[in-house]
Amino acid sequence: MYRIVTLTEEYIESLVELENLCFDEPWTKGMFVGDLSSEYTCYFAAIDDDNKVVGYAGMWISVDEGQITNVAVHPDFRRKNIATELLSRLFDVCRKRGLQSITLEVRQSNEKAINLYGKNGFLSVGLRKNYYKNPAENAVLMTKTFND
Ligand SMILES: CC(C)(COP(=O)(O)OP(=O)(O)OC[C@H]1O[C@@H](n2cnc3c(N)ncnc32)[C@H](O)[C@@H]1OP(=O)(O)O)[C@@H](O)C(=O)NCCC(=O)NCCS
Repeated sequence: MYRIVTLTEEYIESLVELENLCFDEPWTKGMFVGDLSSEYTCYFAAIDDDNKVVGYAGMWISVDEGQITNVAVHPDFRRKNIATELLSRLFDVCRKRGLQSITLEVRQSNEKAINLYGKNGFLSVGLRKNYYKNPAENAVLMTKTFND
C-alpha cells in the first residue's frame, strides 16, 4: 500500500536512498534541498506503510511551461501505476496554474520511461544529440500540451 503526498524535506533521507537505487548519476541531498524549498517547483511522492519514499516525480515551473526533473519508482513497486499517478498529480497542478505544456528529456534507450510518457500523452518532438554523459547518449525531447 502507498499514499501520494507533496514531497517535503521531512522525507529527504528516504528520497536520496531511492534516488541512489534508481540512477547511475543520482541527485544529491543538497540538490534536492534547494529544489524542494523553491516556489518554482512541485514534487509529489508515493509513501509506503513504513513511511519510506517508494516513488517521486517533480517539475520546475517557468512562466507557462512545466519541465519534469525526474520520475522514479522503487523496483519492488514498479508496474503498479505509481509513476502514472504521480504524473497525473503534476498534470493537475499544470492545469490549475494554467500552464500550456510540460516537457522532459529522457535517454533514448530508456524504453520503459518513453512508454510511460507516451502512454500519458507526451509526444516525441526532437532529439538532443549526446545530451547525456556516462554513457554518452541522445536525449529524446517529449512534450504534452494542455490546450484540450
Ligand atoms: C520508468 C518508471 C518511472 C516507471 O514507473 P512505474 O510506476 O513502474 O510505471 P507505471 O506502473 O505507471 O507504468 C505505466 C506504463 O509505463 C510503461 N512501462 C512501465 N514499466 C515498463 C517496463 N518495464 N517495460 C515497458 N514499459 C513499461 C508501460 O506502458 C506502463 O503501462 P502498462 O503497465 O499498462 O503496460 C520506473 O521503471 C523507474 O523508476 N525506472 C528507473 C528510473 C527512470 O528511468 N526514470 C525515468 C527517467 S526519465
